[in-house]
Amino acid sequence: MLTSNRFSVFLFLFCIVCDQCYSIIPDYIQVCKRDPETINECVRDSIEQLRSKLVKGIPELNVPSLDPFYISEISPPLGKNMRALQAVGKDIKVSGAGNFTIKSIFVDLEKMTVRARVRFPRLHFEGKYKVDIQFLVLPIRGEGTLVADAIKCNVDALLRIKTVEKEGVEYIEFTDIDTDITIKDYRIKLQGLFNGDKTLEEATNLALNENKAELMKAAKPFAEKGVASIILDAANKITNMIPYDELFPKA
Ligand SMILES: *[C@@H]1O[C@H](CO)[C@@H](O)[C@H](O)[C@H]1NC(C)=O
Repeated sequence: MLTSNRFSVFLFLFCIVCDQCYSIIPDYIQVCKRDPETINECVRDSIEQLRSKLVKGIPELNVPSLDPFYISEISPPLGKNMRALQAVGKDIKVSGAGNFTIKSIFVDLEKMTVRARVRFPRLHFEGKYKVDIQFLVLPIRGEGTLVADAIKCNVDALLRIKTVEKEGVEYIEFTDIDTDITIKDYRIKLQGLFNGDKTLEEATNLALNENKAELMKAAKPFAEKGVASIILDAANKITNMIPYDELFPKA
């Protein structure tokens, strides 16, 4: 009798303590009630509060820094309409992503989707490239350094979520993402074209900067593929340790 009483007290205390030690939500993550009335604003606020962490990166979750962001290699998705050939970017440093503004965000936990529009006022790229393509009527061939700026980039993203159960606890997982990217303007400079032929290099850079609609169309699948995987990766790393009921407590 006595033992069982003590046991209950112990259990009671254990539960109180454990209630706190159980919560594995890092303090920089603001949770949001599962309430359609408030969830959009709340998630927007949480992302805003997370901005400085995102900018620096979250090493304990293996989330890389957003600003600058480093892309080790990027190539176009296969099967797109570029006539053959190759275009690869390497060791690209992207600055300015931390200056994003969230234009809108809609979280729908019935349909399990998140729809967001994010604006980047300016993204600055520096890195290496290698190309052997046909752009309009111009062959472009070479490898070297690339410097570019993209002005007013809008990213529309649609993320799909599912819940997964791990050891009896429900978690969310972002399963896939569609992105649509539009860019108002850009500047680009490639160095090292045509084995250092400066005349051809200049003519090519001029063509790349004067045929904006065509280049943006060609670059769009690169950018969309790259951004999609960056968002999906970060979203999953940030949320995959937090039980669904804690991340989005029932209203
Ligand atoms: C991002 O914003 C900061 C502060 O306004 C500014 O200094 C920086 O140049 C911006 N980054 C880019 C790439 O425009």
